[in-house]
Amino acid sequence: MSDSPKFLTIGSVFFPEPDCDADTLEKRENRFFNQINISGTLYKTTYYHRLDDLNLVVDNCLPKNHKLNIMDVAVSSGITTWEWMQHLKSSGIEFHMTAGDIAMDATMISISRSIKVLIGRYGKVFQFDLFGWPLPNSPMRLRGKIFKILNILLNMLIRTNLIKNQRHRDGELKFVSNALFKITPLKLISNKISDAENLDIIEDNIQNDNPEHHSKYDVIRAANILNKQFFTDEVLIKMITNLRKKLKPGGILVICRTLADKKNHATIFKLTDEHNFQAIETLGQGSEITSLVVS
Ligand SMILES: C[S@@+](CC[C@H](N)C(=O)[O-])C[C@H]1O[C@@H](n2cnc3c(N)ncnc32)[C@H](O)[C@@H]1O
Repeated sequence: MSDSPKFLTIGSVFFPEPDCDADTLEKRENRFFNQINISGTLYKTTYYHRLDDLNLVVDNCLPKNHKLNIMDVAVSSGITTWEWMQHLKSSGIEFHMTAGDIAMDATMISISRSIKVLIGRYGKVFQFDLFGWPLPNSPMRLRGKIFKILNILLNMLIRTNLIKNQRHRDGELKFVSNALFKITPLKLISNKISDAENLDIIEDNIQNDNPEHHSKYDVIRAANILNKQFFTDEVLIKMITNLRKKLKPGGILVICRTLADKKNHATIFKLTDEHNFQAIETLGQGSEITSLVVS
């Protein structure tokens, strides 16, 4: 398949041709994840070397003398997490990494080999792939209209259980293959990171409190997610509160935003004994939400 089309299909990324080389697959993945619309203006966007300067600044703030339990939230395809892991390894820092994102667990529903749907854990459709023609869930004129019609049809198939499914109490949808529809579970993460050592990949919505993760992490990074562009102050405060609960006493919270000129602006906070955040380091102009974090 040529790599020229603007939009890439589920098949070309998750089931590439046997002779597709690693470099081509990497480029495809990058473009594909950038096309996944989470909500409004928020996409599963990232790119290589986006956070390199941040990695260097964070080094100086890391707790010393023990293996670090680190979480990177809202990781998108995980490539900046992977780069951070390589950087930590090369600096001789021992760690275990957890990479989370609101859109991580997905299912591909396929009819024969020509029609595929990529659907998230709670039923949000990310893309239809019709005979190699990709219809992503981004707002576009013609494709957007066709996407909406197909979405209605798909929901009918789900509601009538023609696509066999069970909806769990928390809203999670679990599908089961039958004679017509084949179900394939997928992780929305770069191939590169999926098998990395010392890494857990989880679906995690930072708007929700997750007691299983309370007081678990020495370091948490939230890059290009706690942005005023995406969320109201009220939602940002809720997210900060949830992240604070995940940190051990004395833990480190890194908040970064990359602006359109690709420059990073970050603040690194330390959780004090009184359970407040104190800014200990900045990069560029610092985080735009510092006043919400330290208040
Ligand atoms: C712009 S990307 C940032 C990727 C990476 N951290 C970086 O800086 O390159 C934002 C990511 O946040 C995820 N996201 C959106 N809302 C979220 C939430 N409530 N909890 C966790 N992740 C969320 C999206 O799925 C997307 O992958």
